Amino acid sequence: GAVDKIKEAGELVLLTNAQFPPYEYLGDDNEPTGVDIEIAQKIADELGVELTVVDMDFDGLIPALNGGKGDFVAAGLTITEERQQSVDFSDEYATSNQMVIVTKDDPKVAAATVEDLEGKTVGVQLGTTGDLFMSEVEGATVKQYKSALEAGMDLANGRLDAVVVDKLPAQSIVANNDALMVYDDVLTTEQYAMAVPKGQSADLLEIINKVLTDMSGEMEALTQKHFDL
Ligand code: ARG
Repeated sequence: GAVDKIKEAGELVLLTNAQFPPYEYLGDDNEPTGVDIEIAQKIADELGVELTVVDMDFDGLIPALNGGKGDFVAAGLTITEERQQSVDFSDEYATSNQMVIVTKDDPKVAAATVEDLEGKTVGVQLGTTGDLFMSEVEGATVKQYKSALEAGMDLANGRLDAVVVDKLPAQSIVANNDALMVYDDVLTTEQYAMAVPKGQSADLLEIINKVLTDMSGEMEALTQKHFDL
């Protein structure tokens, strides 16, 4: 099974995209840190191996997982039906929403509803559920970025009407940019889970789920800790 291979290698390889605070972002030392990284460290500890974090583009994570480049994905990854065709998900460990960021001054999108986004120019992170959501909005021009942080900068610079991104990253972007604000209304409700290659890692999944259960009581404090940074 997957666990035997991980123990033999002495290493658990996490695939992530460290552009998504507070779940994963680059810390002061330029190393990936965040809620998912701390959970991943606990999983490695449970297995008695070292954790290796591979930071890559978000849209490459599932292909890399299925190409054998890592043991699991932890990336604030939303459970979707399409992704369920190619990976096995762990238990859910967080609930999130897609939210709308606009400029405080003269916002170009009036509220966080589909109708208000119609015909607008909206930034998203490539391959995310925000990207998927916007692809179905009538007449919208969707600009796909490598990270929502970059999209936030383009919004502040007047190149976009709005950015659609998950709740806590949205709040983090706004907290770090005085020119931006986020509407309270939400476009979707989503569940985050970790992912392993389909049908090959039942034993690893069991350990991931055990750690998620063990950590469930600390999750709020852990999230708060990384949000405050
Ligand atoms: N929850 C969204 C999704 O699954 C966005 C996740 C982005 N994660 C990241 N680490 N950049 O599509």
